[in-house]
Amino acid sequence: MKIAILPGDGIGPEIMAEAVKVLNALGLSFETETALVGGAAYDAHGHPLPEATLALAKAADAVLFGAVGDWKYDKLERQFRPEQAILGLRKQLGLFANFRPAICYEQLTQASSLKPELVAGLDILIIRELTGDIYFGQPRGRRSAVDGHFPGAEEAFDTMRYSKPEIERIAHVAFQAARKRGKKVTSVDKANVLETFQFWKDVVTEVHAQYPDVTLEHMYVDNAAMQLVKAPKAFDVVVTGNMFGDILSDEAAMLTGSIGMLPSASLDKNNKGLYEPSHGSAPDIAGKGVANPLATILSAAMMLRFSLNQEAAARRIETAVKAVLAQGLRTADIWSEGTTKVGTREMGDAVVKALA
Ligand code: IPM
Ligand code: MG
Repeated sequence: MKIAILPGDGIGPEIMAEAVKVLNALGLSFETETALVGGAAYDAHGHPLPEATLALAKAADAVLFGAVGDWKYDKLERQFRPEQAILGLRKQLGLFANFRPAICYEQLTQASSLKPELVAGLDILIIRELTGDIYFGQPRGRRSAVDGHFPGAEEAFDTMRYSKPEIERIAHVAFQAARKRGKKVTSVDKANVLETFQFWKDVVTEVHAQYPDVTLEHMYVDNAAMQLVKAPKAFDVVVTGNMFGDILSDEAAMLTGSIGMLPSASLDKNNKGLYEPSHGSAPDIAGKGVANPLATILSAAMMLRFSLNQEAAARRIETAVKAVLAQGLRTADIWSEGTTKVGTREMGDAVVKALA
């Protein structure tokens, strides 16, 4: 087994060091190889996703990814910005199925901005389509408007599009995931306005015929945003397009108290995957040793489960994480009165200790 380790920018290297420490403590035999990605790769090689990094990611059995991005790259031409690294990896590796669980850990119910009874026991799974939609649709660009409200004015445009097979395959992923959980799928669209998402709704409905044991409900994205804060526990599996999934998964993450706790998996059709925390590079706290490494550590657990066929090892990590929370250890983002504040490294060490 070979794991590509791509720490990236900001807090990426700090949290990745803890995840690698935990992986090494499992006593499994695998090889790791580390490469630069994002702004760090741009600084060293002039490109956020250098050929060598892409080649490593392609050759590895799984990719563990930290985070990319820093304000200092905001002025670069788009193709050189750190975000292009993760978008490029998703596209080039065909990672179309993004799993973003939002689980509220018992000990962290108080950290949520919602009333405890609304989030206690929350366990929803957002499945976001990751290689299509307005994120990748062509054409896009800037031009002089030929029509519209201001003909002749400078304008910018993107293209929202989905092909039938793209919708079918993500719908299958969602129905199959729901079968292993609460057997309910909420497909989120904007069919009342957008042609792309009327088509999405039609295709998801068609695929659903093959899953009579799973309940399918359709919801407009604006209502879904509202229901997520009103009654989040009513959801089980949510499936949606790339852009709506980007937005709703941040919202769902925050319900759990801290985005610093949530892992994610992005899988191709053979379950090869890239695993990353749901949070970003947090340049404001980078290098201070205060970032929460648990999302990355839990991403490593997801990697063991989905891509490396090591369910027992995945469980060991998840149990260890629950144990350190039960001990009252908290990084600053999840700290509350009466618990013990620890730094990034102490948190990683505590997880390693709890593995034993
Ligand atoms: C995410 C991020 C990315 C996205 C950015 C960094 C390109 O927000 O993974 O949700 O928009 O997909
Ligand atoms: Mg996002």
